[in-house]
Order: sequence, then C-alpha cells, then structure tokens
Amino acid sequence: MNETRHRVLDALSAGPVSGPAMAEDLGISRSAVWKHVEALREAGFTIASDDAGYELVEIPEFGGPAVEYGLDAPFDVEYHDSIPSTNARARDLAAEGASDVVVLADEQTGGRGRLDRDWASPSGGIWLSLLFRPDVPMAHAPVYTLAAAVAATRAAREAGVEAGIKWPNDVLVDVDGEERKLVGILTEMEGEADRVSWVVVGIGVNANVDPESLPSEANPTSLEAVRGAPVDRRLFTQRLVETFDTLRQSPDSVLDAWREYATTLGRDVRVETPRGVVEGEAVDVEFPGRLVVRTDDGRETVSAGDCEHL
Ligand code: BTN
Repeated sequence: MNETRHRVLDALSAGPVSGPAMAEDLGISRSAVWKHVEALREAGFTIASDDAGYELVEIPEFGGPAVEYGLDAPFDVEYHDSIPSTNARARDLAAEGASDVVVLADEQTGGRGRLDRDWASPSGGIWLSLLFRPDVPMAHAPVYTLAAAVAATRAAREAGVEAGIKWPNDVLVDVDGEERKLVGILTEMEGEADRVSWVVVGIGVNANVDPESLPSEANPTSLEAVRGAPVDRRLFTQRLVETFDTLRQSPDSVLDAWREYATTLGRDVRVETPRGVVEGEAVDVEFPGRLVVRTDDGRETVSAGDCEHL
C-alpha cells in the first residue's frame, strides 16, 4: 500500500475528519483525498461520511489492502481472489527480480503440495507465498520452512487453537485423540551452492473452510472447525507474516522456537527418507532442520522425509 493511502487510512481511523482537513494535513489535493477514499471503499473498507467528515467504520475481513494495513513487516502484499497457485505466481515474481512480496489468495485452483501432490485450496483459506532473498548458502534454506511452521503455529495458538508441529513442517492439532492437519508448507528455492538467489515459502492454512470439502487422505481439519467459529483471517495473516519476518532475520533462533511447539520430539517415529526408512525415538532437531533419531544402532540424522508418529 502506498504511503499516502496508508496515511489517509490512519486519518480516517482517527476520524471523523473532513476532506479539506485531511488534504491539508497530508499535503495533497481534495480530489486526491476523494480518490483515495473511493479506492479504499472499492477495496472493501467501510468509510462513513456525514457533516462531521469521513470516518473508517470497518476494515474488510480479508484482501491485500486489509492485510497490508497495520502489517508490521516489510512485505508488499499481492492479493488474488482466485489464482492457480501462489507459489507459481511468487516464482514468476522471483524471475522478474522481485523480493519481499507476499502473494495471498482466497482460493487456489491448482494448489501444489509436497511430493508433487495436489493441495485443495477452496475459498475461505489463507493461501500465501513469501518471496524473499536471504544472503545464505543453499544448505541453510530448510530453516525457513521450520520458521514458517513456527509462525503458523504461533498464529494458530493466538487464535485459540493448540496446534503443534510434526517434523519438519506439518502443523497439526489434536482432535479427539487424532492428529489432524491444519497447515501445509512447501518451500522452493533457486541459487548456487554458496548463495541462495530466492526462496518461496508457500503456506496453506485451512482457515475458514469445511474439512469435509478437503481430501480425507491428509486427515485435515480447519481453524474454523476447531474453534467453532471463523478465524479473523486478516489478523491471522498479519501475525503469521510478522513472526516469520522476525525469525528470518535471526535463523539461529528458529530451532528453539520450533522445539517449543514440536510434537515429534520424545516420540517414536518412522521416517521414510530417500535413502530408506529410519525408525526410533526422535530426540532433537539440528540446524538447519535435521531430525536426530535414536535408533537401535545408534543415532541417525535425517534431512528430509515423510515422518509418521508411532
Ligand atoms: C503440503 O503438502 O503439506 C504442502 C502444502 C503447501 C500448500 C501451499 S498453499 C500456498 C502455496 N501455494 C501452493 O500451490 N502451495 C502452497
């Protein structure tokens, strides 16, 4: 959101304020004020106007300007009501040289999951991709996937949902003794061994969607189903992006935050890795995200794989 529009919104939220007063305070013409007010109304903001002036009454439930307004993180938000995949769009933006952009959608028509699976993304979810360019070697990039899981878990807990993380990045919640999936994360990147060019962290949050409408293989649930009421998607998205932004700036702090929310540590696990199955007790996580498993033969560290809690 451009700075003037942001300042118009600040003035409106402190309103009522007259058009001429706003024009003078902001150093813009009255017709420019009017254009900003109209554009905000078009974006779904409810702005009352009467003799006392203009006043912000309501921020839209979701959308780009709604999420950008009050977002305390240096990301631009590109919003789509419907798009094939926010990750695909973020990759295109990366190819154009962009950085620090959140691509956000209400619905995806071709959402992608891990292992080349489809990811159902009906309207009512929070489907987003964070594009950024960290100055780190490629080998460090997995830490951003863990950071995304922490950010989503923290936002879920703040919304009253006691989520936890299954290694490496599934955000799950216990529903009647069964672990059900709330959030999935798909990280993509490009670069050379010694330096990342860009990272796209795609986060799919089953927010206000009916779990019955999602494929049952993933054992899904949604924030709305667990809370028994819709979640404020604007605030949830802001909290998620803000926490992610803080963590990405200090990758060394990610593992401690991850351990705090992990449901995998201390559990018996079976991990299907590209090099075979590893079974044992999950005892720790190592930078940038390797799981340490105590097996019958000693200790093994696992970088990637499908993890099952036994
Ligand atoms: C998983 O398989 O668990 C990962 C799912 C990742 C889904 C998200 S939704 C936003 C972003 N866009 C996509 O196409 N995929 C990711």
